[in-house]
Amino acid sequence: MPLADAHQADIGVLADRDVRLAVDEVELFTLVRNLVDNAIRYSPEGGAIDLAIGLEGDRVVLTCSDAGPGIPPDERIKVLEPFYRTPGTASRGSGLGLSIVKTIADRLAGDIRMGYVDQINKVGARVSVSLPVQLISNGTADSSRPGCRPFNRAAEGAPESPDVAE
Ligand SMILES: Nc1ncnc2c1ncn2[C@@H]1O[C@H](COP(=O)(O)OP(=O)(O)O)[C@@H](O)[C@H]1O
Ligand SMILES: [Mg+2]
Repeated sequence: MPLADAHQADIGVLADRDVRLAVDEVELFTLVRNLVDNAIRYSPEGGAIDLAIGLEGDRVVLTCSDAGPGIPPDERIKVLEPFYRTPGTASRGSGLGLSIVKTIADRLAGDIRMGYVDQINKVGARVSVSLPVQLISNGTADSSRPGCRPFNRAAEGAPESPDVAE
């Protein structure tokens, strides 16, 4: 990711198992890309960014955490609206990234949650998207269901499209 290189972002990915999502690969990539784009854009240079994938019941939860200022509670609904940008946001942008994330999450029956990475000092944005999942018990893809790919492999092998974010 050129933006990641420019910011010398330290991006880590945590996933404890393969999960399969019956979702369009480009939509999933666009969702993740917009979260990571924000994490890079609004974090200090060299700040740690974590992308975590975990399971909560029958849902997979994708969480992007960063070392930036975070998103204050009273902004968390507003930032999902198209073209909205928190007043004072320095970096340039269209205000569309999170509205795209919301549109895709809605289409996939997903929920978006936001919080601070550090609740006490109220810093670091944590944005989670939970999606319905079909777990692969043996860690392999189920070829009887075309279009379903293991989540973390889908993200790694995402289509080469530099312009899908926003
Ligand atoms: N990781 C983040 N840390 C801090 N603020 C964020 C983060 N992600 C989004 N925001 C805030 O939400 C606003 C809307 O984000 P987004 O819809 O992606 O549009 P854009 O990034 O183009 O401004 C941003 O302008 C910023 O104020
Ligand atoms: Mg953005």
